[in-house]
Amino acid sequence: ADGDADKGEKVFKKCKACHAVGPDAKNKVGPELNGIVGSPAMHNPDFKYSDAMKEAAAGGLVWDEASLTEFLAKPKDFMKGTKMSFAGLRKESDIENVIAYLQSF
Ligand code: HEM
Repeated sequence: ADGDADKGEKVFKKCKACHAVGPDAKNKVGPELNGIVGSPAMHNPDFKYSDAMKEAAAGGLVWDEASLTEFLAKPKDFMKGTKMSFAGLRKESDIENVIAYLQSF
């Protein structure tokens, strides 16, 4: 937890087309992300996940800092078949900061 949540809020602009956080957060193209840090994969039962995510969740994937760091760097490398259409965050500091931001919800 070395990230800066305020900086992470700016990074999260790249996620907002598909994800919401906060009290009124709803599923969009992607699931809402309240409480995602530390949660098992597929944390929102109302969202329709890919088969790849279902398999990962069944295999016990938990979104801790390590797995989020790998996923957010290159989603499709970390999870072949994910339907998260996002190239990834190139800067390690952006990843740390967006995780710190997500941790605040
Ligand atoms: C899934 C984070 C950008 C669409 C997820 C999950 C996380 C996440 C943690 C897993 C949720 C769970 O297991 O319940 C982020 C962050 C982003 C980002 C931090 C920005 C840095 C995007 C963008 C899109 C998107 C831009 C749309 C173009 C999705 C979809 C899923 C997903 C569709 C479900 C994937 C599947 O079922 O395979 N995202 N995301 N995300 N995200 Fe993102």
